[in-house]
Amino acid sequence: MSQETGTTMLNLLQRPRRNRKHPAIRAFVRETTLAPEHLIYPLFVHAGEDDVPIASMPGCARLSQRGLLAEVEAARAVGVDIIALFPAVAEALKTPDGREAWNPNGLVPNTIKALKDRWPDLVIVTDVALDPYNSDGHDGIVAPDGRILNDETVEALCNQALCQARAGADIVAPSDMMDGRVQALREALDGEGFIDVSILAYTAKYASGFYGPFRDALDSAPKSGDKKTYQMDPANAREALREAELDEVEGADILMVKPAGPYLDILAALRRATSLPLAAYQVSGEYAMLKAACERGWLDEKRVVLESLLGIRRAGADVIFTYFARQAAEWLVASSRR
Ligand code: PBG
Repeated sequence: MSQETGTTMLNLLQRPRRNRKHPAIRAFVRETTLAPEHLIYPLFVHAGEDDVPIASMPGCARLSQRGLLAEVEAARAVGVDIIALFPAVAEALKTPDGREAWNPNGLVPNTIKALKDRWPDLVIVTDVALDPYNSDGHDGIVAPDGRILNDETVEALCNQALCQARAGADIVAPSDMMDGRVQALREALDGEGFIDVSILAYTAKYASGFYGPFRDALDSAPKSGDKKTYQMDPANAREALREAELDEVEGADILMVKPAGPYLDILAALRRATSLPLAAYQVSGEYAMLKAACERGWLDEKRVVLESLLGIRRAGADVIFTYFARQAAEWLVASSRR
């Protein structure tokens, strides 16, 4: 006789629901965790005095130095100790060769110094790519015929990464997708004694429409053409394994997949293929989609944000770049106090 209704009872040996019947059982059966230490907080900075909200990323702003320090303080209070800096550079400073990227008095080096003055133990990730500084809006140097020059760009990226390392960056993160940049960066860093500066490689970075709000945030959209000759084709998975192999032999410390949500299969494939730690980037468009639906009351923000991050962890990410980092950590800390 069934306990439930007193009538029908299926003759089942296996009832997976027994492992879901009590919160304490569900707690030890849980396979994936999500905690503040799994989050990296990307932050936009500019040289202005005010924090300027970004329309397509509600809750995010181009931060002044004061705004940045306040935001980092709040994030650290809930256990987010790693941030990634993205500069919005004045149009007048942009050139075809992107040389502002290695100005020792530029926005990024000055910001790193200000942060490290206040918090020597804050972990700072810097973006290595020319797009914020390049008058053409590309990650690499554009030739007169429109090609993106690989080897010339790699040399510029080495200048950029060295400038960031000298200012105190802990992790440099090449997001440019030029060939051979990881090895070149490793050699350049080691050549100046920066053996402890890590390289987090954007290994499988796809030519994605989900970067739209980020390009609004930085005014960094390509002036002509697209990024398909360097970023990966969204149709390709095997090619990600090839990129991973190369970044690994070239000396990367951490590999990244980007975007995250629409590319969980890539993350899972890399998880099986490498023993290196994996990062994933929940990008601006993923943030914007969730925010937009939640603002309309169509989704429950806390539930879906934490679920999206847990899904990225489950697929294989050790750490996640997310604009929700501070908010998610606040929720996680509040629920762990219960
Ligand atoms: C560019 C860069 C981009 C992002 C991070 N670094 C945009 C692009 O490749 O066009 C996107 C991040 C996001 O959308 O949140 N080097």
